[in-house]
Amino acid sequence: MAAVIRLLSPWRFDRLVRASKAARMPCVELHSTAALMAASVEEFNAAKEKLGALKKDPGNEVKFKIYALFKQPICTTTKYWLLIFLIFLYFYTIICHQMSPKQQYVDLISSLVGTEAPAVAAQPTGSTKGFQTLLMSTEDNITTIRLNRPEKKNAITVEMYNELIEALDLAGKDDSVITVITGSGDYYCSGNDLNNFRKIPEGGVEKMAKDSGELLKRYVKAYIDFPKPLIGVINGPAVGVSVTLLGLFDDVYATERATFHTPFSQLGQSPEGCSSYLFPKIMGAAKASEMLLFNKKLTAAQACEVGLVTEVFPESSFQSEVWTRLRAYAKLPRNSLALSKQLIRGVEKEKLHAINDAEVERLMERWLSDECMQAIVSFFQAKSKL
Ligand code: COA
Repeated sequence: MAAVIRLLSPWRFDRLVRASKAARMPCVELHSTAALMAASVEEFNAAKEKLGALKKDPGNEVKFKIYALFKQPICTTTKYWLLIFLIFLYFYTIICHQMSPKQQYVDLISSLVGTEAPAVAAQPTGSTKGFQTLLMSTEDNITTIRLNRPEKKNAITVEMYNELIEALDLAGKDDSVITVITGSGDYYCSGNDLNNFRKIPEGGVEKMAKDSGELLKRYVKAYIDFPKPLIGVINGPAVGVSVTLLGLFDDVYATERATFHTPFSQLGQSPEGCSSYLFPKIMGAAKASEMLLFNKKLTAAQACEVGLVTEVFPESSFQSEVWTRLRAYAKLPRNSLALSKQLIRGVEKEKLHAINDAEVERLMERWLSDECMQAIVSFFQAKSKL
């Protein structure tokens, strides 16, 4: 083997080249591999010495042939030893392991299970949890949370906020692959139930603002921390907080009938749901300002154009098209989806929590302002005149 390695060295090759120059192409006799392999070691060494004595350059073509002929037996030898080594390795592996294949299987699986951190804890599927304001069910690996106050356009009461927080917590921990939020009836959601402002607790309006602020903070936090893909199926018009939260959804599918309206300044209020940060990021500052400052109501097509909505479907085929697509999504590997979503959203999580805190602080002030109180009074006055 040492001799073979020496033959491969550039120094040796140079000598061969020099030798072939001197021999006026005698190496053409060596071009047959069979002849070379048949030669004895003595004959081979003698040929090398002859080559060393060559005085004339045999030309590049012959030099390459010489090099190739030296290389070929070396490669063959190397391949031979490699083959022996692989055969040895194969039998060694079989002999060493044939005694306990089952134990090895068990050990391997145990080691895999021991090191794997589940992306989300598993619970039985097919469950349906009873809520007062929501319908929640799991089917085909999809947990659906359906806002269920259609007669009030799915306006969100204090009870519904609490139930939504609980539902999101359950959905995050169950073994479904994706979670969907949608609405019953012709509306997706008309936002915060303005009656929430009329229920003044013993501590007065300050207490009402503080309690509402804490509830809203927990509510938005449930979306920021949601661990698996969250999809909005927007079955009709959406108002207020049901719109601002869409920036925290992973995909939003809307019927062409849907509209998106955030009339905060009209109500003397300010944005929430991290929209003060996510809307300008999604649609650019100017478009976000039209919505968040100047109450511009977007059509589904406009919302899709600015990136708030993923895709818009005709009303007639909305449900069938969207649910067919969602069922296909829900066949994808659960942990892969959850971990990827966490990667995508994780980068900004701390920032989003800070933004949530700041938005809620501002809103707590706003709810106590004359502007806001006057707007709420006007809403109920208009209703009573009807
Ligand atoms: N808060 C309280 N009640 C609400 C509500 C809300 N956000 N959204 C709808 N409702 C109630 C209505 O008062 C009405 O109650 P009633 O049957 O006791 O009269 C019922 O839901 C049906 O709504 P209605 O107003 O009759 O339907 P509509 O199609 O004419 O209008 C809305 C729907 C959503 C445009 C209208 O109800 C509305 O403007 N609601 C307020 C939306 C809002 O400002 N949300 C807060 C954003 S920050």
